[in-house]
Amino acid sequence: MRVVSGIQPTGNLHLGNYLGAIRNWVRMQDEITGAQAAEGGSAEKNGAQAAAGGGAEKNEALFFLADLHAISMPHDPAQLHQGTLEMAAALVACGIDPERSILFNQAQVPQHAELQWLLNGTARMGWLNRMTQWKDKAGKNREGASVALFAYPVLQAADVLLYQATHVPVGEDQKQHLELARDIAQKFNHDFASEDAPVFTLPDPIVPPDAARIMSLRDGTKKMSKSDPSDMSRINLADDPDEVMKKVKKAKTDPEPLPSERKGLEDRAEALNLVTIYAALTDSSVDAVLEEHGGQGFGHFKPLLGEALVETLRPISARFTQLLEDREALDAILARGAAQARERAVATLDATYDALGLVRG
Ligand code: TYM
Repeated sequence: MRVVSGIQPTGNLHLGNYLGAIRNWVRMQDEITGAQAAEGGSAEKNGAQAAAGGGAEKNEALFFLADLHAISMPHDPAQLHQGTLEMAAALVACGIDPERSILFNQAQVPQHAELQWLLNGTARMGWLNRMTQWKDKAGKNREGASVALFAYPVLQAADVLLYQATHVPVGEDQKQHLELARDIAQKFNHDFASEDAPVFTLPDPIVPPDAARIMSLRDGTKKMSKSDPSDMSRINLADDPDEVMKKVKKAKTDPEPLPSERKGLEDRAEALNLVTIYAALTDSSVDAVLEEHGGQGFGHFKPLLGEALVETLRPISARFTQLLEDREALDAILARGAAQARERAVATLDATYDALGLVRG
């Protein structure tokens, strides 16, 4: 198993990122490296073994800050720099362990951009034109959108194909990009490799069954997002308990009590969202939560939800604040992760150049 995933370091880490993706990153990291850690293994050791050709192939997890993706939209360089360090701290605070996973930012691993260029020959304009994120972000002003925004999914394909990723834990909104990565890999293998010696592994998106889409607290039809201008629409992982309770109290709902079955939440997007969040936080399911709390109003349910959120976030935000104080330690984590990632990127990149017939001394 090779688990690979990324997050853009723009804005704060919010509850949608956490329940939709990061929590799964941590679970998968723990699952695949738990046994190795018990045997005294680490990402570094595994890499050394692989390079020496020793032992069976090891499970590995690579998580990165997609800073190269972040320049596809207008941005402030100083904020991107600070945001990258803060997101690294947030991921560690959530449980990504740089001793067991490889944590880095794309800009320190030039092979991502290099592979993207090689894949641009395989990706098709028509495929990219169909991407919903491109349509949403470019809006009516396609002529004014950056080339990077259009080619964004090709870089995302490079991110995972570079490491022969098998599993990519993401929220629902990234599934289409992952399907495109599979299409690119398949076409490249077909055009430039033989069936029994493919250059790229086809990655599987892993989407959580119950928390795939966490919606805005102000509008249950829009996903919770860093780019929403209203901070009341999202819970940030660094929000303090008072802020969390206030946001939950003010979250949009309807006057009806909770139903005792899921069917009763059809056409009640805000109510469904709050129940989904509560179910995810308490490791339960929407059905089980409704069975227990059906018939109760939001005056009863919202304080429960607020408390569950505060309890989940308390240790994360304490650790986050502490990590941010040691800037040098963060720089060192990213530098080490990038060195490990560069090592693992070489073989696939070489195979890609060769398959394309590019001469390189
Ligand atoms: P990004 O930075 O928008 O989000 C990071 C992860 O959080 C998930 N997510 C959500 N899940 C549920 N509900 C929500 N409201 C919500 N908002 C965000 C996203 O699905 C994602 O898993 N293009 C990617 C970053 C990326 C990447 C990659 C991901 C670059 N290269 C390679 C996987 C593999 C992005 O912008 O995610």
